Amino acid sequence: MDKRNRPIGVFDSGLGGLTVVKKIMEHLPHENIVYFGDTARVPYGDRSKETIIKYAKSDIDFLLTHGVKAICIACNTADSMARTEMEKLYDLPIIGVVEPAAGMAARLSENRKIGVIGTKATIKSGAYETVIHSLAPDCGVISVPCPLLCPLVEEGRFLPGDVVVESVLRDYLAPIKKAGADTLILGCTHYPLLYDVIEKLLPDVKLISSGFASTETLIRTLKGLDLLNPSEEPGQIEFYVSDAPERFAENGGMFIGKKISGKVEEVVV
Ligand code: DGL
Repeated sequence: MDKRNRPIGVFDSGLGGLTVVKKIMEHLPHENIVYFGDTARVPYGDRSKETIIKYAKSDIDFLLTHGVKAICIACNTADSMARTEMEKLYDLPIIGVVEPAAGMAARLSENRKIGVIGTKATIKSGAYETVIHSLAPDCGVISVPCPLLCPLVEEGRFLPGDVVVESVLRDYLAPIKKAGADTLILGCTHYPLLYDVIEKLLPDVKLISSGFASTETLIRTLKGLDLLNPSEEPGQIEFYVSDAPERFAENGGMFIGKKISGKVEEVVV
């Protein structure tokens, strides 16, 4: 089989990575995708580095059984904590979400003050600071862990006007507002759904969703390696999860922006 026709393997701890898939499908409509959501072990955001590395390895091993040509780590927590180890272990392109978003923020920030929000593990890893400082040592970074946001989004509480999510976000965003950051990285797969609420609370701040930035990097990487799919047919997508496929099928639409069509298969990793 022509290597270019092989699928892109995308994984996340659960549903959130579908926000990244949405962007990949918009910008690379002819690519086939195999998505794995580790719904049996979600959330990754409260776990230790060792555990996240172990999970990321088994997620990638599963995707490799589908002959993928590249891996997209569509989970900020897994990318922050396990990326370096995964690059040592595997010999295929691995595209994450942290580097592309950090690079975009460093390019866009005019006053050189960048905010980052994410899970506890992502913020603890310091991955965003490390990349931003390596690219732009003059940038100050204000990072805030936001552990309540994923559960709220999964409960459907992400729209402007929802008093609960607005008050939680007002509290989380206060240090970023106080520091005067002009750019904010939404450093978690769930946060694109909160875009409108965050924009309402921080109207003058540029918001960067990691999925958008990482798709640009994915395109550049595949092009550079002559791995873009030359097919003119619409790409196919297969979904695999480690638990509760019906829940994934039901709630996935919220993240991918349309009904999940096709089978969602439960697998053991
Ligand atoms: N997918 C995770 C992330 O982007 C959020 C959910 C979790 O904690 O596993 O950081």
